[in-house]
Amino acid sequence: MKKDLISNQAQLDDSGKLIHLLGLENLPKSYLVDILDKADNLIDSKGNLKKSKALDDMSVANLFFEPSTRTRNTFEIAAMRSSANVINVDLANSALKKNEALMDTMHTLKAMQIDMFVIRHKQSGLPHHVAQHLEGVSILNAGDGINAHPTQALLDMLSIRQRKSNFEDLSVAIVGDITHSRVAHSDIQALKTLGTSDIRLIAPEGLQHDSSRCEAVRCFDNIDEGLKDCDVIIVLRLQKERMIEADIPNEQEYFDNYGLTPERLALAKKDCLVMHPGPINRGVEIDSAVADCPQSIVLQQVTNGIAVRMAVMQILAQNS
Ligand code: NCD
Repeated sequence: MKKDLISNQAQLDDSGKLIHLLGLENLPKSYLVDILDKADNLIDSKGNLKKSKALDDMSVANLFFEPSTRTRNTFEIAAMRSSANVINVDLANSALKKNEALMDTMHTLKAMQIDMFVIRHKQSGLPHHVAQHLEGVSILNAGDGINAHPTQALLDMLSIRQRKSNFEDLSVAIVGDITHSRVAHSDIQALKTLGTSDIRLIAPEGLQHDSSRCEAVRCFDNIDEGLKDCDVIIVLRLQKERMIEADIPNEQEYFDNYGLTPERLALAKKDCLVMHPGPINRGVEIDSAVADCPQSIVLQQVTNGIAVRMAVMQILAQNS
């Protein structure tokens, strides 16, 4: 589906209530801040996640058509901690393998009284399509092709907000395979919505941001220039599964030119945060010494993923 045909319009009902979470484009700042505040309130003073009855009697289905460790399991934990019943649909052994059309599978699951569907799919726009054609349920986009990964961006914003007071004054650098990264696209959107004044995108030419989406960001092909004095670095994996063979960079060359090493990290501010959505490929986009250094909040991002996903599901449950 072409980017300009993918619209998040379906995620708000006629009265402006959030009924699906498809993407962050056109989502007002107050909605985004509400989700972050709710997520913060779900974390107690010791950093533990609270339990809630908000999804009592509701059923959530996870449909992951692509591999996932963090997103799938944190969605599952978030639903369970909100008291929902959860099923992880076994897609590899489902009727889809007998050529059932996806929408027939979706209607079938809905007939089992599923209230929320968490969908990850390689096709950009697929969750949006389902949201438009399946009434009476909520759709949560857990990553669609190269288009969007809204809950990842929300957990990234929560992780930044817990440590830095003001988005307006931040310099945030996103480094790596931006072209194929739905995380980058949603992070850029969330940072813009929150008023971040300096968003820098660092990538080799073939992996840089689509110029048509380039407003209000600065693009760099030199990592040392791009990292200078920044407050946050978000590192991305080379998403080879979305590249054609001939475009896959040599890993050693890529690490030499774009890998985040301790020397390069020293170009940023002293208290610069290092983030990564995972999975990490050590020695390709990030040096192990950086991945494990005290500035790295990669594992905190994972925990925050549960809080953010609980918050989103609870808001959707309230609005349904
Ligand atoms: C990302 C994704 O799937 O888009 N991972 C994630 O959700 N934690 C990034 C990636 O796969 O590199």
